Amino acid sequence: MGLGRKFVFGAVLMVAGLALSAGGCALQRLPNVSKEITGPPASPPVLAAFQSDPAIITQQDWQERRAPLLRIRFQSEIYGAMPEALGFEIVSREVLQKPEKGAIGTIERITIALKTSQLGPWTGGRPVVDMILMTPKGKGPFPVIAGGTFCGNDVLLPKQSGTRTADMALPPECGGDAPEFLIKAIFGLHANAPPWETLAEKGYALASWHPGDVVPDVPLVAEPHLKALTPIGTPPDQRTGAIAAWAWTTSRMVDVLSDDPRLDPKRVMLWGHSRHGKAALLAAAFDPRPAAVWALQSGTAGAALGRDDVGEPVADITSTFPHWFAPAYKAYAGKQADLDVDQHQLIALLAPRPVLIGTGRRDQWGDPHGSFRALKGADPVYQLFGMPAFTQSKLREPEDKGVLGFYMRPGLHGIHTEDWDEALSFFDRTAPKASANGPISGLKP
Ligand code: GCU
Repeated sequence: MGLGRKFVFGAVLMVAGLALSAGGCALQRLPNVSKEITGPPASPPVLAAFQSDPAIITQQDWQERRAPLLRIRFQSEIYGAMPEALGFEIVSREVLQKPEKGAIGTIERITIALKTSQLGPWTGGRPVVDMILMTPKGKGPFPVIAGGTFCGNDVLLPKQSGTRTADMALPPECGGDAPEFLIKAIFGLHANAPPWETLAEKGYALASWHPGDVVPDVPLVAEPHLKALTPIGTPPDQRTGAIAAWAWTTSRMVDVLSDDPRLDPKRVMLWGHSRHGKAALLAAAFDPRPAAVWALQSGTAGAALGRDDVGEPVADITSTFPHWFAPAYKAYAGKQADLDVDQHQLIALLAPRPVLIGTGRRDQWGDPHGSFRALKGADPVYQLFGMPAFTQSKLREPEDKGVLGFYMRPGLHGIHTEDWDEALSFFDRTAPKASANGPISGLKP
């Protein structure tokens, strides 16, 4: 076989391998979903009586009675116990790129040690995370878009040395040594790296880290880390799951960002794709500080309703990714209708903050329709907070009003320029105004 042929053959094998290793994801489920909204409304109705808690009438009822009850239930049935929040310590800061001529801004690596109540299996007894922070040129304080990266910091800025310091296990979905062009061809131009230049031009800072620094995304490897993060006294079937650990990590990153005088603590926006979209939603459901969330193709245990038979079933997600959840979640495999909570209630915990849900029309695993119905199901809580009703009737793109937004672009599971364009125009429109020093260039006043 000539070299060229060998390469094509190798590439085909790699594509097939990547497609299969993507954990049963959308590549195997190619048909488009309907353009018309299908499926029943979310249940239970978000304001109805829940367990022994009577129906919700006021904002105060929601905040004081229902929200705490739901947080307990989401932990015990799905995600496992949230680790305790004990703060952080900045171990080092290193400027990787100065804001010189031609550079988009300043790029730094901030190494952060997270405090936990227990000694974990980490070097020095605590998890250490490398955050890569880009601040644009100009005068802040800047709004910041923050989220976990899928395959480690070294693929964030391929031409920038020194982005990765930690040595973490990567999930097989990262494709081993698959060349960047193949990853981009399958999972989109921004599969590994957000559009740095566009963000800087628009006046946004960007914070990225690798959640695998805290809990590696590999089932058996994750287990000791999860046990070490689980608060003492937690029943074993509620041990912290990786999604909860990553959400907790996100909150610690919000601690760091909120302390940085160059950034605006009132404008820390979270984002995440797929498993990291699940973590971004969960983080904001437990932490009131994130100003807005964009969850892209977050699917089961993310934005998609889970009590029906559409999208990725509980049986699949808990057997492929047992480390993501509380062991208790597995009990709902094949009987997800027995769950008494669903994802519209999780989204409602973010009210009244803006939420954008992105989906792909061929990503049946990610369940676009169930995600749309989840937003609709959360809407009564947003209305309780005085937000305009979610009246969007088309799946294709968000209506330019309100703080709940949904879009369904063509295509599969991945991160494309179109996704970032949708997210940036949503954040431009809905993010709170600058809390000091006047408006930021590129943002609507
Ligand atoms: C798998 C998994 C999904 C997840 C996705 C991802 O496909 O089944 O639940 O959202 O991986 O994180 O890319």
